[in-house]
Amino acid sequence: MKHYGEICLIVNDAGSGAPPPPPGSGADWGPGWHHDPMPDTYTHGHHESVLRSHTWRTVDNSAAYLLDALAPGQDLLDIGCGPGTITADLATRVAPGRVVGIDVSEEIVTQAQDLAARSGLSHLSFTTGDVYALDFDDASFDIVHAHQVLQHLSRPVDALIEMRRVVRPGGVVAVRDGDFAAYPWAPADPLLDRWLDLYHEVTRHNGAEADAGRHLLGWAHAAGFSEVVATSSTWTFADAERRKWWGELWADRVRLSAFADQALAYGLSNRAELEDIAQAWLRWAASPDGFFAVVHGEVLARD
Ligand SMILES: C[S@@+](CC[C@H](N)C(=O)[O-])C[C@H]1O[C@@H](n2cnc3c(N)ncnc32)[C@H](O)[C@@H]1O
Repeated sequence: MKHYGEICLIVNDAGSGAPPPPPGSGADWGPGWHHDPMPDTYTHGHHESVLRSHTWRTVDNSAAYLLDALAPGQDLLDIGCGPGTITADLATRVAPGRVVGIDVSEEIVTQAQDLAARSGLSHLSFTTGDVYALDFDDASFDIVHAHQVLQHLSRPVDALIEMRRVVRPGGVVAVRDGDFAAYPWAPADPLLDRWLDLYHEVTRHNGAEADAGRHLLGWAHAAGFSEVVATSSTWTFADAERRKWWGELWADRVRLSAFADQALAYGLSNRAELEDIAQAWLRWAASPDGFFAVVHGEVLARD
């Protein structure tokens, strides 16, 4: 039996069949009853238009800040691994260390498992898992990594505390996230301004921080790490081929992905506006002056 409250589920793991406790009854609840925070809503989902971007990612374009900390034989956990291209690349760099990719989405883990099977890397595996409750003992990994995951969470500091729990003494927790408010582009277009506003509105509704990049240093301090190095890096889309890829990908995302579904379900937009924004992305992609940079914050956190 589940009660859907505003910020939590009340669940009974013991399956005793006993009635739920009255609100506010706290520690006097019967066996098995406890609060579970509501699961986060992942803004992007795993539509093909989203995966077009995720499957393009490598260590060189998305985790270069971590390269100096990598060494053969390290055990590595990649959280929120998505389709697993970064994870598989990391696995080639720390072989023969054990590399595990986890993601809360069963559907995307299946895709990542196919990639692992094709890669022939026997030290690489993927499984479902939740960053808030990692199914690993304390101090299990040398490197604990998450790329573009904290920006989608309602409790990023709790996530970092849990990541810190499973990293070995002397190991590294590495996170990198976008900072939407910092993205520069040209030419100016009011519909692309509206895209950014809408993105902030949808993520705010989901309790997530779209401008996470600038907060990573503070979040790592709040999670208790004693040594945190913060840097930044970008993806730049400013030639015809990259512009076409990035512009078409976003045109499809604003029409077809979970972002579109959520913008409509939350009453923040309508089909006509989403179509107008998609056309603005295609106009941007076709402009020889089109420039777009995706700014990321990143931290390497140690104790
Ligand atoms: C933007 S994608 C990044 C995927 C991959 N790291 C990459 O950069 O290509 C974010 C991923 O985090 C996953 N995710 C969201 N909440 C999570 C949670 N609580 N625990 C584990 N994974 C989560 C999503 O399912 C999604 O695959």
